[in-house]
Amino acid sequence: MNQMNLDISAVLFDEHKIQARLREIGSQISSDYAGKVPVLIGILKGGFIFMADLVRAIDIYVEMDFMAVSSYGTGTTSTGAGKIRKDIDINVEGRDVIIVEDIVDSGLSLQYIKDYVWKHKPASVRVCVLLDKPTAHKLEIEFEYVGFEVGNEFVVGYGLDYGELYRNLPYIGILKEEMYS
Ligand code: IMP
Ligand code: MG
Repeated sequence: MNQMNLDISAVLFDEHKIQARLREIGSQISSDYAGKVPVLIGILKGGFIFMADLVRAIDIYVEMDFMAVSSYGTGTTSTGAGKIRKDIDINVEGRDVIIVEDIVDSGLSLQYIKDYVWKHKPASVRVCVLLDKPTAHKLEIEFEYVGFEVGNEFVVGYGLDYGELYRNLPYIGILKEEMYS
């Protein structure tokens, strides 16, 4: 018995469902960027598993990079992005960039990352997020590819953590409130 499973109140998306959705997004990206070589920027750490699976569902040439941004939030509330902890290495000037992020909650982190990437003069920027919490947005934010929508619950697994734990759960589930209250 996996001990972590006991901390989860409900499984929202299992491995099968996630992979099926990634195949759809992967073929959409492959056709939208046909003839181009986009640069995918995975946002660490939450987006690392999503990025790893997504790129294998894409069948055109892509380059990959990663970026890490610190957020001042603790526990289950985020207060937006603070500063760059790991910068991009690829020169994205004139390139088509796709930001690959785990979840849009308030939207503050993503807005910060988008603004930062635009400063490097890319030709285009689109965003691919695994999860969206539409009712939690604190600003109006655009993203082009979305895996799934979730309610205003705290979710973990498949890269998403609570206190650095649960990233290795193969599914996405709701963390029991007693785990953080
Ligand atoms: P935002 O800036 O409020 O949109 O928060 C974005 C970041 O907070 C995400 O990239 C996640 O790292 C983290 N986050 C927000 N909601 C959740 C959640 O339900 N589970 C795990 N991490 C979350
Ligand atoms: Mg994140």
